[in-house]
Amino acid sequence: MAKSKYRCTSCGTVYAKWRGRCSECGQWDSIEETTAVTAPSQPQDMGIGDGKGPQRLNLLLAEPLPRLSTGSGEMDRLLGGGLVPGSLTLCVGDPGIGKSTLALQMAGQVAAGGTVLYVSGEESEAQMRMRADRLGMFPDALYVVAETRLERIGEYVGTLNPVLVIIDSIQRMAAPGVETSPGSVTQIREATDFLLGLAKGTSTALFIIGQVTKDSAVAGPRVLEHMVDTVLSFEGSRHRSLRMVRAVKNRFGATDDAALFEMGVAGLQDVGDPSRHLLVRRREGVVGAAVVASGLGHRPLFYELAALTTVADEGAPKRTVVGISRGRLDLVAAVMDRYTTCQLGSHTLYVSLAGGFETDDPALDLGMAAALASSRNRVPVPLNTVWIGEVALTGEVRAVPDLARLLAEAERLGFRQAVVPDDGVEGIEGGEGLTGLAAGRRMEVVPVRTVRDVVEGLSLFP
Ligand code: TYD
Ligand code: MG
Repeated sequence: MAKSKYRCTSCGTVYAKWRGRCSECGQWDSIEETTAVTAPSQPQDMGIGDGKGPQRLNLLLAEPLPRLSTGSGEMDRLLGGGLVPGSLTLCVGDPGIGKSTLALQMAGQVAAGGTVLYVSGEESEAQMRMRADRLGMFPDALYVVAETRLERIGEYVGTLNPVLVIIDSIQRMAAPGVETSPGSVTQIREATDFLLGLAKGTSTALFIIGQVTKDSAVAGPRVLEHMVDTVLSFEGSRHRSLRMVRAVKNRFGATDDAALFEMGVAGLQDVGDPSRHLLVRRREGVVGAAVVASGLGHRPLFYELAALTTVADEGAPKRTVVGISRGRLDLVAAVMDRYTTCQLGSHTLYVSLAGGFETDDPALDLGMAAALASSRNRVPVPLNTVWIGEVALTGEVRAVPDLARLLAEAERLGFRQAVVPDDGVEGIEGGEGLTGLAAGRRMEVVPVRTVRDVVEGLSLFP
């Protein structure tokens, strides 16, 4: 007999009775009634092991099966060398960002070396064919099916024995014996559990697409993220062609990496030089825009940061951010108010990062201060200058990790000047030589100690 129980939609904790607040995670109104599958009398085998009992660790193979190449150098590197057989990869992102396109392209590539099954709960087989037409991709070993019943999907996997299965999307899937509607917390949980068993039992790699809620969190319980091996987040502006896939969790690779793509007429293409895409149209004499850099793992990225300050009407002045954290703007503005002649307290502030990406990297602080001061004082920011540094509450400019790599990349991109924290330069090998225009260098490195140096020096920079 199915019996009612109650589960927190935020953390997954189960209660026998309904309550207003989850005592595990503290969330209000997060407890929902779920119909439980009758508990099995024996503890269940989760199916994650090979069933051979204890074995000597040093005799085990770390990866008994070779990884599956996705056909994209960017994606393979992000995954730490390709998809791992028997693993679960969850890919989440806004609607229309390109998840299904990425999945179908990967499916097509992997199908060159083995059977692949693409399960769609969102599109018909004919629609999938239309997408494949657009991508110009028709491998023999690629199977598609429009299906949401996991039991059936399990049967297909049994017959086809695929090396890769795509599930598009987890929110549409219905697990056997679960009565709540697809997309509910219980369904997502049970469906993932089912797929976990499938992957581990068959060594099939599972690539699961997930939808996000309005605030860009994975729709469904947090436990979903715990159950899978890898969580990828698909980002970028739908209105621009550049897309970024970040590894949020990565059991088989790094988490500070990102894969970059351009969405074109025939799907997603690897982007080898993302900063060149992000830094379009730089013109002389522009007020309120500064180039900033962020050292994301293997990928230094350069962005344009724009600021606009206007005298506020009555009431508390507004602050609006796009792509950066509001907290960083508040901090930089407060420090500028206290330690520099550039007073922003009574001004409405807008700060926006071009390209449609988001980052809260403090290395952007220095460029933000420069852009704000430039807008407020109507002094142009020097062209071909990049700003790298964190602003501390004391008004000092702090070192950022990987400065040497960012500087090398800035030079490659043709910047003529880099404004950096002075204590950061010392840490770099040959740091002395980096200051000023060293022999053989095309880029001048200007160390600054405080935000005041930046604000007061703005008009002095060439
Ligand atoms: P899609 O993969 O359907 O997004 P998601 O699954 O994340 O909802 O991608 C949708 C967008 O990508 C859609 O607006 C059309 C565009 N697109 C291209 O620009 N080029 C292409 O080759 C394809 C297949 C899609
Ligand atoms: Mg889709």
